[in-house]
Amino acid sequence: MEFAARITGTGSAFPEKRLTNDEIARELTRFGLETGDQWIRERTGIVERRISRVDNEAETNSSLGARAAQEALEMAGRKPDDIDQIIYATCSPDTILPSTACWLQQKIGAEKAWAMDINAACSGFVYGVVTAEQFIRSGHSKTVLVVGAEVLSSFVNWHDRTICILFGDGAGAAVVEQVPARSKQRIISSYLSSDGRLSKLLYIPAGGSNMEVTPERYAQNLNKMRMNGREIFKVAVRTLSECALRTLEQCHMPAVRLDWLVPHQANLRIIEAMANRLGFPMEQVIINVNRYGNTSAATIPTALDEAIRDGRIQEGQTVLADAFGAGLTAGALLFRW
Ligand code: ACO
Repeated sequence: MEFAARITGTGSAFPEKRLTNDEIARELTRFGLETGDQWIRERTGIVERRISRVDNEAETNSSLGARAAQEALEMAGRKPDDIDQIIYATCSPDTILPSTACWLQQKIGAEKAWAMDINAACSGFVYGVVTAEQFIRSGHSKTVLVVGAEVLSSFVNWHDRTICILFGDGAGAAVVEQVPARSKQRIISSYLSSDGRLSKLLYIPAGGSNMEVTPERYAQNLNKMRMNGREIFKVAVRTLSECALRTLEQCHMPAVRLDWLVPHQANLRIIEAMANRLGFPMEQVIINVNRYGNTSAATIPTALDEAIRDGRIQEGQTVLADAFGAGLTAGALLFRW
C-alpha cells in the first residue's frame, strides 16, 4: 500500500508581553542610537512583536511549543498517545542537551513517541513537515507532531538597531498524518535547499563547541545574532521565488491555480517583492509579521494556523508554504488543506 501525508491540525502560542516599535526606539535612544516607529514600519512592516519572559516557565520555548501542540492535536482530533514521532524545529532551544523535543514530549505526555530537534533556522518548519512526510510515506510513522518554535529574543543584541527591531518569540505546530496515496487532501510536492557558503550572513559566533561563552565574549555580544541584512534581503527574494517555482513545477501547477501563499515572515518588503516576482496577488498572501515580527521557525505554522482558524483557508484549497533562513536554508511545501 502506498501512503501520502496530510496536515490534519494546526496550533499556535505566543508570550503575553507585546513590545512596540516605540518602546524599542525609546530604549535605543537612551544609548544614542536613532530609530523610530515610522522607519521600522516602512522598512519591515513590523508594528509589534511578542517577547518571552525567560524567568516564566510558561513562556520557555518548549512551553510555548506544548501549547501550540495541544491546539494542533485538538484540531486533528488526536491525543498525545497517538503521536509516534515529534520533530521540533528550532534554533533557540531550551537547552543544548537534551533536545527541546524531549522537553516538549514530557510536557504534553506523548510517551509513545520518539523525539528529535532539527535546526534549519527559519526554514525549520518546512524542513520538519517534509521530513515527517518522508517517514510517513515510508510507513515508518503514522502520526507526526511537527513544531516550529523560537525564543530568539535571548539571542538578540538589544543595542543593535539592525537586528533588535526584527525578531519576536512564538510557537506553531502541525499534526501530520498518514493517508492513502490518492487522497485529495495531502502534501503534494516540496523542494528543499541549502547554501552553506552563505553561513555568515546570519550567525551566532559563540555558544557552540568551537567558541565557549567567556565574560569577554559575552561583553562583546558574541553570543548574539550577527546579520548582513542587506545581503539577506536580496538572496531571500531570489531564493523564495525559486523554491516556490520548483515546487509548483514538480506537479505542473501554475502559480495562478494556487489559493494561498504562506511565506516566511521576515520582512513585508521581502514578501511583496517575492509575490511580485511570482505574479501572485497580495490578497492571497497570509501575513502576520506586522503583529509578531520574525519568529523564525514559528512564522509559517502560526500564520497558517491563524488563516485556518479564521476561515480564510478552506478545506480543499491549495497552500504553498515558502521559507528561507540562516544557513542559508530554504524550502517550499505545497499541500491541499
Ligand atoms: N533604524 C534606523 N536606521 C537604521 C536601522 C534602524 N532600526 N537599521 C539600520 N538603519 C540604517 C542603516 O545603518 C543604514 O544607514 P546608512 O545608509 O547611513 O548606512 C540605513 O538605515 C539603511 O540601511 P539598510 O541596511 O540598507 O536598510 P534596509 O532597507 O535594507 O533595511 C533591514 C534593513 C530591515 C534589516 C533589511 O535589510 C532586512 O529586512 N533584511 C532582511 C533581514 C532578514 O530577513 N533577516 C532574517 C532572515 S533569516 C531568518 O529569518 C532567521
